[in-house]
Amino acid sequence: MFEALVLDRSDEESRATVQTLEIDDLPDAGPDEVLVEVLYSSLNYKDGLAVTGAGKIIRGEYPMVPGIDLVGRVKKSRTDAFESGDHVIGTGWQLGEVEWGGYTQRAKVSGPKLVPLPDTLTPKQAMGAGTAGFTAMLSVMALEEHGVDPDEGAVVVTGASGGAGSLGVTLLSALDYDVVASTGSEGTHRYLRERGADRIIDRSAFEGGPERPMEEGKWVGALDAGGGDTLATLISQTRRRGAVASFGNAGGHELNTSVFPFILRGVRLVGIDSNTCPNDRRRRAWRRLGSILTEEDFEAVTSRTVTLDEIPSVSRDVLSGEVRGRVVVDVQG
Ligand SMILES: NC(=O)c1ccc[n+]([C@@H]2O[C@H](COP(=O)([O-])OP(=O)(O)OC[C@H]3O[C@@H](n4cnc5c(N)ncnc54)[C@H](OP(=O)(O)O)[C@@H]3O)[C@@H](O)[C@H]2O)c1
Repeated sequence: MFEALVLDRSDEESRATVQTLEIDDLPDAGPDEVLVEVLYSSLNYKDGLAVTGAGKIIRGEYPMVPGIDLVGRVKKSRTDAFESGDHVIGTGWQLGEVEWGGYTQRAKVSGPKLVPLPDTLTPKQAMGAGTAGFTAMLSVMALEEHGVDPDEGAVVVTGASGGAGSLGVTLLSALDYDVVASTGSEGTHRYLRERGADRIIDRSAFEGGPERPMEEGKWVGALDAGGGDTLATLISQTRRRGAVASFGNAGGHELNTSVFPFILRGVRLVGIDSNTCPNDRRRRAWRRLGSILTEEDFEAVTSRTVTLDEIPSVSRDVLSGEVRGRVVVDVQG
């Protein structure tokens, strides 16, 4: 017997309750199934949308256990890739969207969806990063792969006080980039400076879109949580051969831009999809996260650690922008 947060939907309304389940209640995860004792999960923006029903995130059948992230200990494994006692991380790959996710004390997950927990991370730290930190790492790797050099100029991070943004600022600063944090949350300026932001600009500087197809080139790179007009402004302000990693749509999903920054400045627009990121790249990103981030970084970015029963109310806080940094879920707590 174990506990899980179970999401049901009737009359267009979602209801999440903590329920006691048995192992046989868990949906089968196929021939490579791994039974995991989940230790921690996390609460991302996407989880907030799923739990409250504010966004169409759940594409599987109800009842559903949400939670796109989990870390835990292997109890039983049908695949040679893992054995009992191993620590594993699962993020994305439709967990908590189509298949049951991480808001549970036990989970059955298909082995190829899991990666080993690096030695340099504790289970709680792994969820201090979660999908947000993993996405920030993939975004930083994309800038590096496109030749964005710390010595060449400033990199701007939008949605900087959010989970992915906070970890993006932290990672870039640790890698010696000149970091400009864009935020709409005034109360977070000190926090962002402590995370390594060299300068802070208001979110409004990017909203509304660019006045011209190409504005003054200000950034060698960008990590964008905003999307929409924010992304359009970033593209128009990116310097020659700079790169913009687009991972979010917190401010909008449409993109009105022109080809000029691409064909006259060689600007690169790189899409980041953490959900279906291939496994070898996943492992690399997690190892790098574990080698760059420090214990102090995880303590600073984790604003709350909550239990399963607190998830519905904290989900509402996440959606209303009241939460800075990351929320870790102590599923055994
Ligand atoms: N592509 C992927 O694989 C992937 C993975 C993870 C997340 N995401 C997406 O990335 C975004 C951030 O995720 P998260 O988990 O970090 O969420 P989060 O912790 O809730 O952070 C979102 C942040 O976005 C900023 N924001 C809010 N409204 C905005 C607006 N109108 N325009 C611009 N920025 C706004 C706020 O930061 P400030 O107050 O500091 O401005 C807020 O803290 C979301 O859109 C999420 O869906 C994508």
